[in-house]
Amino acid sequence: MAKDRQEPWIDVTQEKFNYDSDYFVIPEHYEEDVGNVLIPHGLIMDRINKLAQLITSEFNERLTVCCVLKGGHQFFADLVNAIKKRSTQKGKTLPVSFEFIRVKSYHNDQSTGKVQISLSEDELKDFKDKDILIVEDIIDTGRTMKALLEFLKDYQPRTVKVASLLVKKTPKSNGYIPDYVGFAVPDLFVVGYCLDYNDYFRDLDHICIISDKGRAKYALQ
Ligand code: HPA
Ligand code: MG
Repeated sequence: MAKDRQEPWIDVTQEKFNYDSDYFVIPEHYEEDVGNVLIPHGLIMDRINKLAQLITSEFNERLTVCCVLKGGHQFFADLVNAIKKRSTQKGKTLPVSFEFIRVKSYHNDQSTGKVQISLSEDELKDFKDKDILIVEDIIDTGRTMKALLEFLKDYQPRTVKVASLLVKKTPKSNGYIPDYVGFAVPDLFVVGYCLDYNDYFRDLDHICIISDKGRAKYALQ
């Protein structure tokens, strides 16, 4: 019997993916600041290994892996490590180069987004004719990524693909779906594994739902 077509991510919006934090080690300084664990660190690593397999099976030439800071840093580091351990369909290791960008998006209304990006014009010109893989932590509304992709077109990369560890299932989404996705998460604020709340929680290994206490404690004054 034919296998049902799988969704291209693990859907952790389902109830079964909600673990009491007592089952895991949470850093003492965040014990009261997180609710349930949504994605344990081990599952993140296993999923990244699969994304690395998909990526190495689709590329043979040097890939420029472009990390969107700061949130994408941990995913970028672990994904690149996994890619280095795999072979392409030609049985060779995949050569990778690195780029790091910070992106700020500005939008005047719901439909138009413009980005400000931390690379110089000279650095951007280096994207010409390259195969680019943008690595992002989370796609929420999708506006920043759509605007970034639009912006990069002017620099004529050969191909641009996007890997995002998470996509949020939110009614605010503009429908953008990345090429490689780890998990679909519920429309809640998630932290950990470098995803932050006002720059806190990056030093938490698991991806968790922030608690009301944590939200109040680390709110901007
Ligand atoms: N957590 C952290 N950063 C984010 C989120 C989130 O849920 N959505 C967009 N950026
Ligand atoms: Mg991000």
